Amino acid sequence: MKIRKAVFPAAGFGTRFLPATKAIPKEMLPLIDKPLIQYSVEEAKRSGLEEVIIVTGMGKTAIEDHFDISFELEMLLKERNKTDILRMVEELSNFIHFSYTRQKKPLGLGHAIHCAKNLVGMEPFAVFLSDDVIDAKTPVMKQMVNIFRQYPYSILAVQRVPKKDVHHYGIIEAKKIAPRVYKVIDMVEKPHSQDAPSNLAIIGRYILMPEIFTALEEIKPGKGGEIQLTDGLKALLKKQPVYAYEFEGDRYDAGDKLGFLKANVSFALKNSAINKEFRRYLKGLKL
Ligand code: G1P
Repeated sequence: MKIRKAVFPAAGFGTRFLPATKAIPKEMLPLIDKPLIQYSVEEAKRSGLEEVIIVTGMGKTAIEDHFDISFELEMLLKERNKTDILRMVEELSNFIHFSYTRQKKPLGLGHAIHCAKNLVGMEPFAVFLSDDVIDAKTPVMKQMVNIFRQYPYSILAVQRVPKKDVHHYGIIEAKKIAPRVYKVIDMVEKPHSQDAPSNLAIIGRYILMPEIFTALEEIKPGKGGEIQLTDGLKALLKKQPVYAYEFEGDRYDAGDKLGFLKANVSFALKNSAINKEFRRYLKGLKL
């Protein structure tokens, strides 16, 4: 079955970036010259997905405006013969089909995904957490879609993390069944390092079976009093297999100040318009 739809939870308050995110959604913070969320929307498109469903909340209209047509801007660029920029802006509004739904209360990631139930319907779908920016030769979701052909169940992107960092992630207990592929046995959301079943951490890319919606309805609030996606997946695991895939690519936690800075530096070093000058600047820094 083809994966056509991508859900982007984007209702969080972005408290780690306050005050920058008081009036601007954290998804709109720029990595060089594109907002964070655009990187994962582009990944969705390059992975062959056709529809993007963004779960927004209060104060997030800038995301909708960003992916919409700006008639005034396009007119201005036309009048001034800025054809290259015009093409870029036009491409963005014709990029992929967008739908929006709102999470009315901040009840957790699992709850946010559940808000997309009616727009997704009864088909497997992808989830992107745009805080996780992944630089990969083959887009990570495309790698996962390929794995899904062989293992047509829910698939979680995972990466090994240092033991001291496991409390930031959903951690899986799993059995390796093929190169980079694991069968999930159990999982726990943000465990203390002494309780973690492994150091395989869930990263923000998922392929989910539609049965996740019923599973999310069955669970109680978990870590932080929120409806956790990890707990929903744990409930799903009782009914059908769940797999994990150790993706190929460099991942940045752009939801964190240091991770965001690292992502900016790495992307700047790869950006042909500025990398020479930027490299010279970095070399000249007296550290
Ligand atoms: C969420 C998930 C967690 C996962 C992480 C990946 O946590 O709840 O299981 O490991 O994303 O980025 P958050 O970072 O939103 O707190």
